[in-house]
Parts: sequence; structure tokens; C-alpha cells
Amino acid sequence: MLIPSYMRNKILIFGATGMLGQRCYEYFAKKLGYSVLLSSTEPGFYNPTANYIQCDATKKDEVKKIISGFSPDYIINAAAFTNVDRSETEREIAWKLNVNAVEYMAEGARNCDAHLIHISSDYIFDGVKGQYSENDKPNPLGYYGRTKLAGENALKISNALFTILRTNVLYGVITQGRLDFVRWVVESIRKGEKIRIVTDQINNPTFLDDLVRAIGQVIEFGKFGIYNIGGREFLSRYDFTMRICDFFNLDKSMVTAITTPELNQPAKRPLNSGLVTLKAETEFGYSPTAIEETFRLMKDESGL
Ligand SMILES: NC(=O)c1ccc[n+]([C@@H]2O[C@H](COP(=O)([O-])OP(=O)(O)OC[C@H]3O[C@@H](n4cnc5c(N)ncnc54)[C@H](OP(=O)(O)O)[C@@H]3O)[C@@H](O)[C@H]2O)c1
Repeated sequence: MLIPSYMRNKILIFGATGMLGQRCYEYFAKKLGYSVLLSSTEPGFYNPTANYIQCDATKKDEVKKIISGFSPDYIINAAAFTNVDRSETEREIAWKLNVNAVEYMAEGARNCDAHLIHISSDYIFDGVKGQYSENDKPNPLGYYGRTKLAGENALKISNALFTILRTNVLYGVITQGRLDFVRWVVESIRKGEKIRIVTDQINNPTFLDDLVRAIGQVIEFGKFGIYNIGGREFLSRYDFTMRICDFFNLDKSMVTAITTPELNQPAKRPLNSGLVTLKAETEFGYSPTAIEETFRLMKDESGL
């Protein structure tokens, strides 16, 4: 029997130390007061008082143990092997984390009637058409994209209760770990470092907190299936960088416009990408924040 949503408040977050995982903790545990269990491979979490368990999601027995031990109502999978270039050579770990771990989570979710919310990527597409909807045909160019598509397909045949949120170019305030794109641009130029930015990769960059709120709406309205979550505007990475420079009063001459081949990256990138968010907007009121407003929020919260 499905427990009524007002009584369902236990959330297990995999990948809690990552960019998305951290914001989910700030929102669901600290802001909304859900009973949240955090996990990742790190020995600890930046907030030592948080409910955190070390767990390697590529280990089936560890995933089974943490899910059956907590019996969550919701599982947010923010864990992934996200290094697109390393995925080309470290294929085994990319597959284990982006596919096998999802299979283990789905099995655990099925056993305790949990709703599994999984995050996927625009990199399942080849970047020819652009502005993809949920019904467009995937055609991943690189191994990372192949593993993300395989993770989606594993969920579709799992008989678990699931929602897949496809997203692209995540940015926003994070407490620890690697820099998001906005902070990297701002800090590089302020340090006097010249940066080279591509003009031919088109996306609708996604504010992390918009994605986190969308997860909250999926939970609140009990939405299942596939949804795109992205920003309001489709623009090139170079144009996005120019907007960052304008807002943070940065010297634009420090930015060199280049094209993707000049970056000579090991993994191919979908050039004309981005995700249309109409379905999420109409089905659960998803409303992405305006770009400059996201910059203001980042500045206010992190002093950027
Ligand atoms: N970032 C983007 O621009 C972007 C774009 C499209 C889609 N996505 C998708 O959005 C989701 C979140 O991405 P993100 O950028 O927040 O990721 P991230 O910052 O790279 O974090 C990945 C998380 O996975 C954890 N992890 C790594 N190996 C693990 C293992 N063996 N067992 C358990 N956890 C493990 C990492 O923590 P430890 O190393 O501490 O274990 C970290 O917490 C992913 O599904 C990603 O594919 C991201």
C-alpha cells in the first residue's frame, strides 16, 4: 500500500557531496525539515551534524543495506561518474556508477515502495537538432552519454516507481568540491587568468536550485516518468560567459572565443543541445529563474 504523501518524509540522497547532492541537503533537510539520510564514498560530510553514511553505490550489498536500513519514501540519485572525458577511458567505473548503481537503487526502491528520482543528461543526444523534448530520439556521441542513456533504460525496465530529470550545464552555489562554471569564470578572470570559451556549444544552463525545487515539486505532486529541467534561455557558452562578465563587471578581453575542435577534448560534445522544459512547466509548475537573478542569488549567498 502506497503511504499517503503527507506521511512520506524520509529521503535518502546518494551523491550527497556532489554539486546537486549538497543543494538537495540544504533544501530538503535544512530548509524543509525532511528526515534526510546522506551518503557518498567520502568518510564524512561538510556538516558533521548531518545524518550521513559512507556508501559505495557500485557495491550492490552496500546499496541494499543502506536502503533497507533506512526504508526511505524517496531516493534522490545525485551520484554519477560525471567526468565526460575520463569516461572515454575509465569505462568500467563509469558504467558501474551510471548504470549498475542505478539498477541496485531501483531494486532497493522496489523492495520498500520508495519513489526513485534519478538525474540524466542532455549528453544522451547528438546535438544536431537542438532544443530537445522528452520524446526526441537519443543518440549519444560519447561513452558518458551512453552510460546515462543506459541508466535511464535500466530504470524503465526496473518496475520501480521512478522519475528521470534530464538536465544540462548545472551551476550555482556549492559549499565544497569542484567549481561550477560561473564561479570558475569569475575567479579565473579576477585572478588575471585568460580563459578560452566555445561559441558553438548551445545549452540552456540550469541553476542548481531550480533543479532542486523541481525535485521538490516531483515529490509534492507525485510525478513519474521523464521530465526536462533546464534554464529559461538557450545560448552559447560564450554568450553565457559574456552575461557573467556583464553582471560581475569582469574584463571581457580576458575571454577568447574559440570553437569546440580547438579545445581538442577526448570526448565529443553535442553542440546544438539544450532541453525544452514545457512538460515540467505545464505538469508541475516548473519555473526556471532568470539568468541575472541567479547571479544575484549566487552573489548574495556566497559573496561571489
Ligand atoms: N554537472 C552538470 O553540468 C550536469 C549536467 C547534466 C547532468 N548532470 C547529472 O546531474 C547529476 C548530479 O551531477 P553533479 O554535477 O552534482 O555531480 P558531481 O558534483 O560530480 O557529484 C557526483 C557525486 O557522486 C558521488 N560518487 C562518486 N562515486 C561514487 C560511488 N562509487 N558511490 C557513491 N557516490 C559516488 C560523488 O561523491 P564522492 O566522490 O564523495 O563519492 C559526488 O557526491 C548526475 O547524474 C549528472 O550526470 C550533471
